[in-house]
Amino acid sequence: MKKRVFLSASALAVMALSSAAVLAQDNTFKIGLVLPMTGQQASTGRQIEAAAKLFMAQNGDTVAGKKVQLIIKDDTSIPDVTKRMAQELVVNEKVNVLAGFGITPSALATAPIATQSKTPMVVMAAATSSITQASPYIVRTSFTLPQASVSMADWAPKNGIKKVVTLVSDYGPGIDAEKFFKDRFIFNGGTIVESLRVPMRNPDFAPFLQKVRDAKPDGLFVFVPSGAGAAVMKQFLERGMDKAGIKLIGTGDITDDDQLNDMGDGAIGVVTAHHYAAAHPSAMNKKFVEAFKKANKGMRPNFMAVGGYDGMHVIYEALKASKGQGGGDGLLAAMKGQVFESPRGPMFIDAQTRDVVQNIYLRKVQRVGGELHNVEFDVIKDVKDPGKAK
Ligand code: PHB
Repeated sequence: MKKRVFLSASALAVMALSSAAVLAQDNTFKIGLVLPMTGQQASTGRQIEAAAKLFMAQNGDTVAGKKVQLIIKDDTSIPDVTKRMAQELVVNEKVNVLAGFGITPSALATAPIATQSKTPMVVMAAATSSITQASPYIVRTSFTLPQASVSMADWAPKNGIKKVVTLVSDYGPGIDAEKFFKDRFIFNGGTIVESLRVPMRNPDFAPFLQKVRDAKPDGLFVFVPSGAGAAVMKQFLERGMDKAGIKLIGTGDITDDDQLNDMGDGAIGVVTAHHYAAAHPSAMNKKFVEAFKKANKGMRPNFMAVGGYDGMHVIYEALKASKGQGGGDGLLAAMKGQVFESPRGPMFIDAQTRDVVQNIYLRKVQRVGGELHNVEFDVIKDVKDPGKAK
């Protein structure tokens, strides 16, 4: 009798010990944030890291009884590195969520890891339409190039821009921008004079801009990834293309809030279509911009920051709703269909496509309070990714 009691007591002790170990592990919720902190897309990494940290500072690091831990890895903008880091985060760190992804090739390279490990993957930056189709575990909080490009193709011909040359970075998002702008612009009665593609890495815009000048279009439609806009603007102005009557238009990536204020008065009047401007006039955005600047030595948040901030919101809400039950699948289910107010305006994660549905704004660069800003003057509400309509 005594012996049996002793055995069960030690069994209980072992059970208690192992469940304490499980509890300790279960009590942390790990977010693996893979970002380009160096290299060509470093501004994206800097913006998203700052936004994720701000979100945690404002909302605490305990959610549904779990301690949220952010693990940041620098993928240097190289897709093979992104994939390897994501794999290490899943296998060694046992992260609950993968997040970040500064460029399309990085997101696509990582998609199979999300699928195989059943880990939700929150794409906070990359914006090629097809990304969400690369894994059923991907949820996107940034935007898609078709959302912005179609909106621009509706605005331009109604505003005297009938003949356009397109100039895009030669990879996923650029090809989306070119195709969706072109198809809609032609449908609206416009003419595409020429379509130019520049290399994604270290592009020299000069020979391409010379071609544009010679073609004498009404407008030049541009997509380049965040961080490259200032170089395009500089060379466009240096060649006097604005004075030659060519209007620069594009997705908001070219008048990126991270760089806009340093672009100079030549940028004034440039019209773009996008989902976020630091000047978006909502109470929530004003608070966001103020807190972001305060925490980051005056840095202005750009559209990448808002993708990171909202990505954290989606993760926090999913953890609250699922209470950490059901693993990756439970978390993913709780991400689908979320509706909330973002600093960008209302946003919605479409449960079917796992992609973001949001307003697209038309904005014009203006000087406001001594600073250059994208000032919104029109809105197309609740835009679904046109890339998924077909
Ligand atoms: C992308 O690679 O998907 C990408 C990067 C930067 C942008 C937009 C899209 O500004």
